[in-house]
Amino acid sequence: MKRKIYITRKLPEPIVQRLSETCEVRMWEEDEKPVPREVLEEEIEDVEGLFCLLTEQIDASLLDKADKLKVVSNMAVGYNNIDVEAAKERNVIVTNTPGVLTETTADLTFSLLMATARRIPEASEYLRNGNWNTWSPMQLTGQDIHGATLGIIGLGRIGEAVAKRAQGFDMKVLYHNRSRNHEAEGRLDLHFTELNTLLRESDYVCVLTPFTPETNNLIDTKQLDLMKKSAIIINSARGGIVNEKALYKALKEQSIWAAGLDVFEEEPVRLDHPLLTLPNVVTLPHIGSASIKTRMKMANLAATNLLAVLEGEEPPNKVG
Ligand code: GLV
Repeated sequence: MKRKIYITRKLPEPIVQRLSETCEVRMWEEDEKPVPREVLEEEIEDVEGLFCLLTEQIDASLLDKADKLKVVSNMAVGYNNIDVEAAKERNVIVTNTPGVLTETTADLTFSLLMATARRIPEASEYLRNGNWNTWSPMQLTGQDIHGATLGIIGLGRIGEAVAKRAQGFDMKVLYHNRSRNHEAEGRLDLHFTELNTLLRESDYVCVLTPFTPETNNLIDTKQLDLMKKSAIIINSARGGIVNEKALYKALKEQSIWAAGLDVFEEEPVRLDHPLLTLPNVVTLPHIGSASIKTRMKMANLAATNLLAVLEGEEPPNKVG
C-alpha cells in the first residue's frame, strides 16, 4: 500500500511523478493561491507526509489534527513557518532545503544591492514615463558599489556567498554573527565586528540571518539611527528581522539613503503598505531563490527528505 502524502502547492510534473512512484499523492492544484487553512486541516488528517512551502503555517493546532504524520518537508531553507518544537513533541520530523539555493540567493541579494544603489527600477520607469529629455550631470545619480564597505549580518552559507561576490567589487567586508568564523575570515578577507560597529561603518548592510525570536526586530530605530546617511540596507532574509515602521521612518526622513527589500513582515505585501510609497525603496516579491534550476533542485531535495523519512531513513536535512 502506498503511503499518503499531501503537497500544498502545484509542483512541477517530474517532482509529482517522482513522489507518486511510492506515494499516494494529493496536491493543492493552484499555483497562484495558497491552500486555504480549512482544506489543509482536512487534508493533513490522514497523511504520513506533508510537502509544504513557507506560505503555510504549520503550528501545534494543525499538527494536533495529524495523527499519522511523520514528516513535514519544507521547500525552503528558512523554517520559521513551522513550530519545530511542537512537531518534535509529536514525533514529526521537520526538514528544509539548505545548500542548493545558496548561490542563487546570493546572486539575488547582490542584484538587489546593485539595483538599489544605482536606482535601476526608478531609472527604467523614468525613461518609460517619458521623462528622459536630456542627459544632465546629477540626473539619477546613485551610490558606488566598488570600494564601499559591506556589512553582512548573519554569516551563514548565503552570507559567505555574498561576501565572495563583494570581493569582485573590491569591497571591504565586515560581518556580525552569533559566533566568529576565523576560517572564513582568512579565506574571504572578512572583518568580525559588533553589530553596532557594523551599522556605523557600513555603506551597505545586508541582513542574512534566520528569523528567530532573537532576530525578531533585530534592526529597529536604535540600530537604524547608527547607520550612515548615505547607507543602504538590503533584506533578503525575512521581513520581521527589520522593523518596518522604523525603516519607513528612517527612509522617509532620509536618515538612511535607501532600502532594497525582497521580504516583508506580511507577505504578499499590501499594495497600500507605506514602504511601497517611497521612491528610495526597491521591492521584490520574495524571489531570492527563484531561478528555474534552483527551484527544481529545492523541490527535488524536499522530495528526497520526505521520502527518506517515510522509508525509515535519516533525511539529509533534518532541522531542530
Ligand atoms: C526562502 O526564503 C527560503 O527560506 O528558502
